[in-house]
Amino acid sequence: MFSMTAPKSTKLSTDSYKGVRDFYPEDQAVQKYIFDKWSKVAEKFGYNRYDASILEPTELYHAKSGEEMVNEQTYSFVDRGDREVTLRPEMTPTVARMIAAKKRDLGFPARWYSIPNLFRYERPQRGRLREHWQLNVDVFGIASVEADIEIISMADALLKEFGASAADFTIKISSRKLLNSLFSGWYEFSDEQSMRMQKLIDKKAKMSPEDFDTEAEKIVGKAFKFLNLGKKSGEYEEAMAIPNIREAKQELDTVIETLKKRGISNVEYDETIIRGFDYYTGIVFEVFDTNPKNNRSLFGGGRYDELLKIFGEEKVPTVGFGVGDVTMKDFLEVHELLPKYISSTEIMICVMDNEFNDAANKIAEELRKANINVAINYSEKKIGDQIKSANKQSIPYIIVIGPVEAEGNTFNIKRLSDSLEITTTLAETAKIINFIK
Ligand code: HAM
Repeated sequence: MFSMTAPKSTKLSTDSYKGVRDFYPEDQAVQKYIFDKWSKVAEKFGYNRYDASILEPTELYHAKSGEEMVNEQTYSFVDRGDREVTLRPEMTPTVARMIAAKKRDLGFPARWYSIPNLFRYERPQRGRLREHWQLNVDVFGIASVEADIEIISMADALLKEFGASAADFTIKISSRKLLNSLFSGWYEFSDEQSMRMQKLIDKKAKMSPEDFDTEAEKIVGKAFKFLNLGKKSGEYEEAMAIPNIREAKQELDTVIETLKKRGISNVEYDETIIRGFDYYTGIVFEVFDTNPKNNRSLFGGGRYDELLKIFGEEKVPTVGFGVGDVTMKDFLEVHELLPKYISSTEIMICVMDNEFNDAANKIAEELRKANINVAINYSEKKIGDQIKSANKQSIPYIIVIGPVEAEGNTFNIKRLSDSLEITTTLAETAKIINFIK
């Protein structure tokens, strides 16, 4: 049994739980900056926000999230009513559940987005933590490749909204449909071999080429060679003579060519993009940072037309992606795209003595009416120390209230970055707003 109180002699650690973060105001400001831009782009494309609880029944992930996720990465427990519960490791099963529950009442195509926090028991490392926030953008009800194209275009627009250029990232696309048709029609693998090869290719980037070859041979009984259909050489024509393969490749080509035609040039076919989840059925993609310091996948997504079937519903054609806040922040840092931190408090009123608190409050109240964020120091410390504190907290402006200001009608507002000052009165709030905004 857990004890409710710590033994008196033990000092508690100030560390947060392994792999999760505390968000001090500066970290929170970065997160808000990222979330605001995410929401802005999603809404510009006509997506509406939804959310759900962090807690889900564990069975939700058994059907289609993949063995690794369920057996190794979930935080699961049994509640007091003997129910198996999981802290959501991804949002896709949740949103599929929500769509399935109200399918008859919803208008389609439904365009939805969410910014959930997700929990995965992973080894914490650069870009991978145990709790992260993930923008999820999904469109339900469009079977044509226009949905895949829209979703990939949004991923592109999202990075550009932060000031990134095409050279900063690469969009790598592949197709589960193409892969499955190659596995069955070209390589003639059994279902079991196809499944195992899919998992192996998904892990390829984390293995040496020799280890990959050895593992592949164990699965298929002979050396495995990628067909390299992107190059249109060697056995290309022969493979294209098989109808399923040809159709899947044509669909993939249409997506890539349309994206290029619409101005997205940094998109390429990469047959090693598989995506770990079992629910994907068509086009899959990932977006990679091109900066060698952060050479990792930022976004992952694709088409998953069959997921609603786990709820006994008819299939609904769906495409979506997820992008995490950890990798996004790393991307913005290496490309120097993060703005300098400024406190959301715009003005700190420094008070010389507590007898001037009423005067300070009068000014604060008026400024707040004008939508200016104002804090009053009240520490009774020296004015020099109060200004240092405002600087430390990155509060950009100060007003000092002493006997002159309390008695008179005017006061000074000072910008701390360059000591620029204006003298003003409360009646001139417009002047104050212009100075600070
Ligand atoms: P995912 O590839 O597992 O896809 O995650 C998407 C993104 O979330 C990754 O590219 C990465 O930015 C971030 N991410 C994932 N795991 C972690 C972690 N442990 N720490 C930090 N960031 C992480 C999915 O989750 C799909 N459900 C996405 C999707 C939505 N597919 C269709 N719709």
